[in-house]
Amino acid sequence: MPTIHLGVYLTRGQETYRAVKYALEAGYRGIDSAQMYGNEKETGQAILDFLASDANTNALRREDIHLTSKLASNSTYDAARKSIKASVERCGLGYIDLFLLHSPYGGRELRLESWRAVEDAIRDGEVRIGGVSNYGVKHLQELLDSEPRIRPAVNQIEVHPFNTRMDLTSFCQEHDIVVEAYAPLARAMRMKHAAVVSLSRKYSCTPAQLLVRWSLQHGYVPLPKSTNKERIKSNADIGGFSIDEEDMATLDELDEYLVTDWDPTDCP
Ligand SMILES: NC(=O)c1ccc[n+]([C@@H]2O[C@H](COP(=O)([O-])OP(=O)(O)OC[C@H]3O[C@@H](n4cnc5c(N)ncnc54)[C@H](OP(=O)(O)O)[C@@H]3O)[C@@H](O)[C@H]2O)c1
Repeated sequence: MPTIHLGVYLTRGQETYRAVKYALEAGYRGIDSAQMYGNEKETGQAILDFLASDANTNALRREDIHLTSKLASNSTYDAARKSIKASVERCGLGYIDLFLLHSPYGGRELRLESWRAVEDAIRDGEVRIGGVSNYGVKHLQELLDSEPRIRPAVNQIEVHPFNTRMDLTSFCQEHDIVVEAYAPLARAMRMKHAAVVSLSRKYSCTPAQLLVRWSLQHGYVPLPKSTNKERIKSNADIGGFSIDEEDMATLDELDEYLVTDWDPTDCP
């Protein structure tokens, strides 16, 4: 899986299309979409058009780009299976690389039925990798205890220095579940925080680059979102520095359980 993916939440139509193209041109190889975002079609189209364009100077092919989508709500097996097929159709790329259950809402039975639909979509070649999102430890444990044919490879959760979720991230890492960090920029709500500003100066980077770097150094896969060409480019341009241990600890200590969107990790 690519190390950084562009998030396309809260983008629509041409805005999504342009952001995905800017990202691919800037070197991103992963895009994070979802049924709920209503932009799977534009995301897929932008990928196809990029691959066929002169901007594709490295002669990349479909298999070099990683597309994620997510099931809007957990449902019965048949409904979930149908819904995954519809996503694959909408994106127009032949298959989806990573398909997630967007949240644990719906209760045990629908969670497990929906997971069975993901497993069968993988078996049938519609999806390459299966995972979950917003799963708390108890939801992950429930899925692992159900002895699935395929274990979830990913849990996509909100993680940044202002919401570190160490309990959950360490459970994932102990169980070989990749943590995808959503809202890795804390939705731009803490860009002016004194510690972030001071460390950005120290490393001669932007606050956003510092936050993306923090995520990578914890072993997470960050999904920074932007629709701005320059910010898309600079958010992923983080090869030139690394945060030292002491400063990582300073950032870890900024935890205030800041929830920027929703937090279903504790739902029944
Ligand atoms: N699974 C889930 O439940 C879930 C929930 C939320 C998000 N996600 C995924 O994670 C992705 C990222 O999360 P997010 O969109 O909530 O938040 P985010 O990536 O933390 O922050 C996005 C915000 O930061 C701004 N921004 C981007 N780069 C910036 C920079 N260099 N300097 C200043 N501001 C900057 C963006 O504005 P501009 O666009 O104007 O640059 C936007 O307002 C989503 O797009 C989605 O793919 C998943």
